[in-house]
Amino acid sequence: MEKYLLFTPGPVNVAKNVQMAICKEDICHRETDFDCLLQSIENKLLKLFEIKTIAYYRAVVITGSGTAANESILSSVVGNKNILILSNGEFGERLFNISKIHNKNTFLLEFAWAESLDLEKIEAYLQKHQIDIVAMVHHETSSGMLNPLEKIGALAKANGAMFIVDCVSSAGAEVIDMEKCNIAFCSSSSSKAIGSYSGLSFVVGKTEEFEKLKNLPIKTTYLNLYKFYEFIKTLSQTPNTPAIHLFFALEQALINILNEGVSNRYANIRRKANILRQGMLNLGLKFVIDQTKMCSVLTTVYIPSHINVNIFRQKLRNKSIIIYEGKGCFKNRVFQVGNIGELSFDDIQFFLDTQREVLQSFNHTETKTIVSIKKENLNSQLMDCQN
Ligand SMILES: Cc1ncc(COP(=O)(O)O)c(C=O)c1O
Repeated sequence: MEKYLLFTPGPVNVAKNVQMAICKEDICHRETDFDCLLQSIENKLLKLFEIKTIAYYRAVVITGSGTAANESILSSVVGNKNILILSNGEFGERLFNISKIHNKNTFLLEFAWAESLDLEKIEAYLQKHQIDIVAMVHHETSSGMLNPLEKIGALAKANGAMFIVDCVSSAGAEVIDMEKCNIAFCSSSSSKAIGSYSGLSFVVGKTEEFEKLKNLPIKTTYLNLYKFYEFIKTLSQTPNTPAIHLFFALEQALINILNEGVSNRYANIRRKANILRQGMLNLGLKFVIDQTKMCSVLTTVYIPSHINVNIFRQKLRNKSIIIYEGKGCFKNRVFQVGNIGELSFDDIQFFLDTQREVLQSFNHTETKTIVSIKKENLNSQLMDCQN
């Protein structure tokens, strides 16, 4: 089968040594081989997050995609308290929907997709209402917006609230300073900027907050976060049978990042994003959000009004390039291009050259089904799609 170049925010093309890692020997998850493997992964995760006081933090690994980590946090830390979800896109909405299932006192402060979180509104809300926990997405993948961890963390702290963050599409690409930003728990997944296969997720949290979960009501069996903590603390194991070979792959992906150097990794991803973005601007394309607000992982781009995004994707796929389409209110209006995983600078140049050819191949009669969206109209259109 031909190799695809995954210009997506994940899953990604993985390194050769990550591919090889899943071919390792068979081990039992109740033997010391696995204990050592999990210990090694936990240590490396804490290094990736550049935690200074390692003794105060733990990381647990869950067999399940990023949603599993989010659901384990949301079902395990709230108890009967009040949780406020901040949302400015699809994944903020998902946090709200997950929380509603488990927590009757779930509140939502919603902003339009691709709109920055309004700090004044958030502060006013927190001052007016008794909120015990604030949750948000770091990199809102639906628009590419990077939300401000430090500022929201400070607001949560000033109002006596715990801060939890979905870092599924930012961990491994952007700085997440849990200590400085007052983050109690954050979630992420193996398959995005971490550079491994999909199927594992993890939660990094403060040890004292993990300890407190012991006294809270149990709302799920498989995703009980306290149980994951208890097992790693006492046995360096997982409560249920883990996808062992994915753990080998995750360990290798973390070794790769640490060998490269965490800040070098961030800089390399940003360099790729910059080249990709400049190349797309040179082709006359326009971005949905300002570059200063973007995460370094992906770029959300308006599809020119005479082009059908499905056909555009198909033509790129014929050249072995995979990109994303916009979802929700961005459907048929945007496409998304990621720059993580094993994509070389040559791959990026190939993408830009191919994209130029594909854009030129469209003529105005080929398809006319798309609603044109002009940048200056964005705000009103986004408001429409929220209603
Ligand atoms: C920010 C964010 N949160 C959660 C998820 C859900 O992750 P998964 O599909 O791995 O369950 C995604 C997936 O793209 C995401 O980007």
